[in-house]
Amino acid sequence: MDDLGQLEQDLLQAIADADTAAALDAVRVAALGKKGSISALMKGMGALSPEERKEKGPLFNQLKNRVESAIESRKTALETAELDAKLAGERVDVTLPARPQSEGRIHPISQTMDEALAIFGEMGFTVAEGPDIEDDFHNFTALNIPPEHPARQMHDTFYLPGERDGGPLVLRTHTSPVQVRTMQVQKPPLRIIAPGRTYRSDSDMTHTPMFHQVEGLVVDKSTHMGHLKGCITEFCRAYFEIADLPLRFRPSFFPFTEPSAEVDIGCSRKDGGLKIGSGGDWLEILGCGMVHPKVLDSCGIDSHVYQGFAFGVGVERIAMLKYGIPDLRTFFEADLRWLHHYGFAALDIPSLVGGLSR
Ligand code: DAH
Repeated sequence: MDDLGQLEQDLLQAIADADTAAALDAVRVAALGKKGSISALMKGMGALSPEERKEKGPLFNQLKNRVESAIESRKTALETAELDAKLAGERVDVTLPARPQSEGRIHPISQTMDEALAIFGEMGFTVAEGPDIEDDFHNFTALNIPPEHPARQMHDTFYLPGERDGGPLVLRTHTSPVQVRTMQVQKPPLRIIAPGRTYRSDSDMTHTPMFHQVEGLVVDKSTHMGHLKGCITEFCRAYFEIADLPLRFRPSFFPFTEPSAEVDIGCSRKDGGLKIGSGGDWLEILGCGMVHPKVLDSCGIDSHVYQGFAFGVGVERIAMLKYGIPDLRTFFEADLRWLHHYGFAALDIPSLVGGLSR
């Protein structure tokens, strides 16, 4: 074999042996680079006689072409192999067991509020909201609780630094100010429900400084006490899922309603246990009444044309009763074991299915 044949064989062998892109590139430089063996042959042509050049020129060129195309096809082969290896390494093993997913729970407060909203939603109520930081006017004065009114003491108010419209800022002591805010910006007919946090400076077995209420307000030209009774009765029976739950509307007093009532549901107490739905005992669950004309007027609604009813429900209270949660304070201790026990799966979407046997 002549020198040229030997060179070609050596180069083709080196190309075949190159098992990485870097090794292949080294072979390319050694052959075709500036100081490469084939480049040297090309450069040497200048020193040849015209006859020799005519004879060797095509041979050198063919050699160069064959080496170039061998490098090119080896390069493609290496790239394909690299991709195959990568794909094989990344293959999804569908037989692997799924990673355990830790599952969150819906807090009973959220669940109870969602249930209440679902029930009132079916009755045509829409949700309204107001701020947790209120001013004296919305929390008290507009609700017919003027300064020095004894009802202010009962509210154990948290006062905040600063004031608005000449009165102190407070953490709202009830959701009733949302009634005021709604009536100030919307005109009747109104049918709203306002769930939210409320605050009172009170802490013992049955009180926490922060708790939740759901407020309701209906205002129209001919809204009357019968509507109030029907609405509350419907709600209580749907919420407790007892179609013939006994209810009692007991006369009471709130400054913002006249007449006012507290609502009791029928229950029986036996051996320290409590059963809702029958028996001769009663359990108070909410306050309500016909909106006081002064409240309508202070919100810019003509009390000679419109009248309405309102109610306020303690969320923790009805949650404890329905779900058998004995201690109020546990709601806010953020104990994951408690939440796991009393919480709800995220897919337990509240619905009325089974809620009312009608
Ligand atoms: N705001 C009252 C409270 O926190 C509850 C209440 C009673 C709300 C009667 C009302 C109502 O809307 O009409 O004690």
